[in-house]
Amino acid sequence: MMPPARRRYLVQPTHGVHGTLSVPGDKSISHRALMLGGIAEGDTDITGFLDSEDCLATLAALRALGVEIERPGERQVRVHGAGRRGLRAAPAALDMGNAGTAMRLFMGLLAGQGFDSTLIGDASLMRRPMERVAQPLRSMGAAIRTHDGRPPVEIQAVDTLAALDYVMPMASAQVKSALLLAALRAHGRSSVTEPAPTRDHTERMLQGFGVELQRDGARISMAGGQRLTGCALEVPGDFSSAAFFLVAGCLGASSGLTLRGIGINPTRTGLLEMLRLMGARIEVEPRGDGAEPIADIHVRAGALKGIRVPEALVPLAIDEFPVFFIAAAAAEGETLVTGAGELRVKESDRLAVMAAGLSTLGVECELLGDGLRVRGGPVGGGRIDSHGDHRIAMAFAVASLVARAPIEIEDVANVATSFPGFADLARRAGLSLSEQG
Ligand code: S3P
Repeated sequence: MMPPARRRYLVQPTHGVHGTLSVPGDKSISHRALMLGGIAEGDTDITGFLDSEDCLATLAALRALGVEIERPGERQVRVHGAGRRGLRAAPAALDMGNAGTAMRLFMGLLAGQGFDSTLIGDASLMRRPMERVAQPLRSMGAAIRTHDGRPPVEIQAVDTLAALDYVMPMASAQVKSALLLAALRAHGRSSVTEPAPTRDHTERMLQGFGVELQRDGARISMAGGQRLTGCALEVPGDFSSAAFFLVAGCLGASSGLTLRGIGINPTRTGLLEMLRLMGARIEVEPRGDGAEPIADIHVRAGALKGIRVPEALVPLAIDEFPVFFIAAAAAEGETLVTGAGELRVKESDRLAVMAAGLSTLGVECELLGDGLRVRGGPVGGGRIDSHGDHRIAMAFAVASLVARAPIEIEDVANVATSFPGFADLARRAGLSLSEQG
């Protein structure tokens, strides 16, 4: 049998984007809302939920663990919380698909439960490092097995966890969040210290569920045994999805482009600062400030110049580098990113895959151990392999705003893991994108 044709985008050079757009809900917040709702007492009503493959994997896993979940309408979820001790063993391995966030956060959530769990995922997730979470969990008394540091992750029943004081060796919101979820079940007060600020949705949301948590500079501490109380949660538009249109706007919105209702939590918006350092014309109009700040963002095309990206911004823009490198390719002069070795262990090795794709388009770049040097200049066309990485696929679609020839982007089905409807929205904004396969 022939293998099924891989889904691909064909994008023709276009020179303009425009209009007012909204993007689907935030992926990180949607995962967390389901999980915290699942272990809370009472109901949690989520609006603006991201109906993407990743978040639906979390939803299905929670159902398999015995949580009752309803879908009262589009982008709405009602989670009937099972309470602190209400989860029960799933009948089979929990399949996280492509979702690293789901796997790592579930490790923390399931570590101290009195039943066994096994976590698996797709080919990309089965290659990703899980010891960064398993190790500190073991020091809390969890019994966890990985295979060469990777999934499947086998969690054995353990009734109690000990508190933990942990200084994280890498800036990772997934590790931090997994440990905070485990700390909820631990005896005593735990703390987690991060080497640099990372997204703080878990901390904000735990407080929304009534958990007392203290932040003291880089250290977050929390007493175990606290109850969560179900609540209403509105998920803002995902800044990481808006990022593709932000860069598209910088490259081609001569009459301006507006993105409505976007989450602008400062631990997520490093890309705004990076683009502004390049000379981008972006205005942020705040719209509301609940647990998570929201804004409309206006962007207008203008000349960009290359920059050296301050390393402190890297964790605050960690998912935005694929599309940022497209902005760098379109800028005048050289852009240098260092301190970004974490990009090598995302859904793909994003440094290597972006370097290969940019070279295919004739852009001069140098792959570094922990970063990339990109020399802005003419961008050609060609065939790009996204390696099944959603953000690589969308980034190269944006490159069509500066490309001189068509770009074919292979293996794009995983765009549905984070951004269902991307192709339609891209066309509405003005890109010439067709889907094949
Ligand atoms: C995420 C944290 C980041 C990010 C990922 C989502 C989260 O991963 O890349 O897309 O929701 O906590 P790391 O914690 O590995 O940096």
